Amino acid sequence: MKILVMHGPNLNLLGEREPGIYGSDTFESINAEIIAHAQKLGFECEVFQSNSEGALIDRLHAARLDCKGVVLNAGAYTHYSYAIRDAIAAIKIPVVEVHLSNIHARDEFRHNSVIAPVCAGQIAGFGKYSYILGLEALARLLG
Ligand code: DQA
Repeated sequence: MKILVMHGPNLNLLGEREPGIYGSDTFESINAEIIAHAQKLGFECEVFQSNSEGALIDRLHAARLDCKGVVLNAGAYTHYSYAIRDAIAAIKIPVVEVHLSNIHARDEFRHNSVIAPVCAGQIAGFGKYSYILGLEALARLLG
């Protein structure tokens, strides 16, 4: 069963980007842990990252045909992209929203997720383990 883990803008810089908030593990090492954990759960896992809203939307659309579910860290798009929200609402597969940081304990503008109402659920604040917990949530959702 194939699933997709998607990272939005600026997450390609994990490891060097604000390590006090996002940790010092590199993007590549986090992805390796994600893929290894997904395999343990019996998933084939594709990792996709883009800094562009349109590319994320295109990959979400394609996922409805080639994946059973998505773990999504939409980065800052979380807080204002109605286009990504609509893309999630348009596809029938479950999308689990994840964030490394606890967005509710940060700047006011990060408290609201416009994608949360159309996602299966939200996991935030556990660093790279948010992705692992997201995979676990997806495994349970997909049975
Ligand atoms: C983030 C939180 C967002 O507010 C921020 O814009 C990010 C990363 C997180 O994983 O904690 O880029 O999604």
